[in-house]
Amino acid sequence: MAIPKAELHLHIEGTLEPELAFELAERNGIELPFDSVEELRRAYSFTDLQSFLDLYYALMSVLRTEQDFADLAAAYLERAAAQGVRHAEIFFDPQAHTSRGVAIGTVVTGLARALEDAERSLGISSRLILCFLRDRPAEEAMETLESARPHLHAITGVGLDSAEIGNPPEKFREVFAAARAAGLRRVAHAGEEGPADYVRQALDVLGAERIDHGVRCLEDPELVERLRREAVPLTVCPFSNVRLRVVERLEEHPLPKLIGAGLVVTVNSDDPAYFGGYVEDNLDGVRRALDLDPETVRELARNSFRAAFLDEERRAELIAEVDAYRFPAE
Ligand code: ADE
Ligand code: ZN
Repeated sequence: MAIPKAELHLHIEGTLEPELAFELAERNGIELPFDSVEELRRAYSFTDLQSFLDLYYALMSVLRTEQDFADLAAAYLERAAAQGVRHAEIFFDPQAHTSRGVAIGTVVTGLARALEDAERSLGISSRLILCFLRDRPAEEAMETLESARPHLHAITGVGLDSAEIGNPPEKFREVFAAARAAGLRRVAHAGEEGPADYVRQALDVLGAERIDHGVRCLEDPELVERLRREAVPLTVCPFSNVRLRVVERLEEHPLPKLIGAGLVVTVNSDDPAYFGGYVEDNLDGVRRALDLDPETVRELARNSFRAAFLDEERRAELIAEVDAYRFPAE
């Protein structure tokens, strides 16, 4: 049995496996520009974030109906449960769907149905986090928040994703303030490809409670000290960082530096269908590549629950599960 953990950095659209993409394409009468699952998989070779995003957005064309979104989330949650995930906070990109004529209600209702089913059948608790696409205008983000208002009972927070460089957090000051006023939690991708200053802006301007990725904070020792002092969690995604060439090799990943700096580090999968593994694969990957001892891995798992938007009773329960966990070799 895999160590109990929360997954806090997971784009549901990034869990679209080639097999399901072809199945949904056929169901919806959509022609994919690939002849086979194998040919599609061969396209999963990226040079940077943008080269991945181009394929990621293109493949989403197969997602059209409420059932499509429910099937996508159900497939992820089943995989996640098998990898020890006890709680998942799931990003979705409404603008990538509404721009194709799919209503936001179709997206949220389909996802929320699968999440409720998985809570009952698999015992996984979960949350939905609506992400704004930072390479689209700020006005569009505000329209997206407005269109989400009838569905806020199913949405815990907002996030910020897509092409980072040239799209600083500052651009989204107003929409994050409006989200906060609506009672939503706030997270933001920052310091993945973009500079350490975007991490600072995410905290100061957006009121971000967690930083997604954040690995480039290491370029600014004062910022690292602040992240430590304020115990701001980082949702780090090792396989993603290698596949998108933020880091050259897993063996050179700065995870030990972040842990050594006293930060609340968590390990996550980002877009597991595209980056070669789900969250336990990432955790086991860094354990081997970076020679992490069992207690360090347990601490990463505890951090995932500390950083989650959970009620205190369930948080304590899940941390106790980690405390009791022993690896097969221990
Ligand atoms: N959207 C999906 N995955 C992403 C990532 N790693 N960075 C920014 N936007 C994303
Ligand atoms: Zn991400």
